[in-house]
Amino acid sequence: MQELAGKHIVLGLTGGIACYKSAELCRLFVKAGATVQVVMTEAAEQFITPVTMQALSGRTVYTSQWDAREPNNMPHINLSREADAIVLAPCSADFIARLVQGRADDLLSLMCLARPMERVPLLIAPAMNREMWAHPATQRNLMQVAADGATVLGVGSGWQACGETGDGRMLEPAQLLEDITAFFVPKLLAGQKVLVTAGPTFEPLDPIRGITNHSSGKMGFAIARAAREAGAEVTLVAGPVHLPTPRGVSRIDVLSAQDMLEATLHAAQSASIFVATAAVADWRPATHSEQKIKKDGSGKTPVLNFVENADILLAVAQSERAQSRKLFCVGFAAESENLAEHAKAKRERKGIPLLVGNIGPLTFGQDDNALLLVDATSTRELPRAPKLTLARELMTEIAARLPDWRV
Ligand code: CTP
Repeated sequence: MQELAGKHIVLGLTGGIACYKSAELCRLFVKAGATVQVVMTEAAEQFITPVTMQALSGRTVYTSQWDAREPNNMPHINLSREADAIVLAPCSADFIARLVQGRADDLLSLMCLARPMERVPLLIAPAMNREMWAHPATQRNLMQVAADGATVLGVGSGWQACGETGDGRMLEPAQLLEDITAFFVPKLLAGQKVLVTAGPTFEPLDPIRGITNHSSGKMGFAIARAAREAGAEVTLVAGPVHLPTPRGVSRIDVLSAQDMLEATLHAAQSASIFVATAAVADWRPATHSEQKIKKDGSGKTPVLNFVENADILLAVAQSERAQSRKLFCVGFAAESENLAEHAKAKRERKGIPLLVGNIGPLTFGQDDNALLLVDATSTRELPRAPKLTLARELMTEIAARLPDWRV
């Protein structure tokens, strides 16, 4: 997915061992469709060569403010004017201090100072030893660069190159890509609290076996990510799936439909948007054996009885919060035929403002999908596309409906 298509990023490297991760970050930017201009400080060149960064970005690297390649000899002006963003990764403690002071004695600091602040955002990915990170001077400087308009991307925690363990590591390249992509998304859902259910449920029969389905959770996870990118606070109630939690999303793992109901009803008390994508089992075994159900050698098969699970979406849609229009509910319908007809009927049955239909067998486990949006007055098709693209479009559709629906 070309998430950064059309974007031009100036990637600034300062002195730190995390420079080795910047090679991968540069590659990810290029793969995501961005053009990348690398600028390195003298200290960064101690850790990685400009040759590596040139090969990965496909552009010669700038290291000096006296670079004669620029006809006007002003690389600090020319480079920053073209950028959609300047990303400093890694950004050392020293460089943060230099930004705070407005220093301009090398190309990168000069360029950051000379950037047109209103149209060229500065994003910084700090990287340092945990003691340096925790030092009051660093924390003070970080607050100051943020107050001066920079976006501080946060740090990872764990083993550090110095052998110590703690906060201050640069985020991994994939995490940085996710955060930087999110940065460019319009914050249409700022101030909203979005609750998403995702994945299958697992209804245990005994300690070994149970009943589940093919839902991969990918659509729900994409929706949680898209909601977060759009500026919402997001809670994701996930059935058993092996997917990484989108950045900045709080995740609650559950197993059965009953667990999912409990977690969802609780979180729904403070949510303002609820998107039910989970493929909740309609039935669960009437009894749950404490021990494994064994064959008795007679050839007789066990008889299983089922009871119906609660409809989570319906329960939330009927809550006081949803009925008083403080909570906008969106349902999904996994159908195998007659999508439009079933989707319309399901929306009315569940009493929700928006229902999203899709053909189950064509989407389970896939990375892309096609959706049909059904509300009280219209239907709209979102043609086949990656699930994240569809999730972003869905967030726009939800945001557009909120003002009218709330009054
Ligand atoms: N859903 C739910 N709890 C259930 C069943 C469904 O929250 N016990 C939600 C799903 O997350 C989805 C919507 O209801 O948003 C529709 O789910 P779907 O399985 O398509 O429909 P059902 O209501 O189960 O109806 P049917 O099986 O008759 O198609």
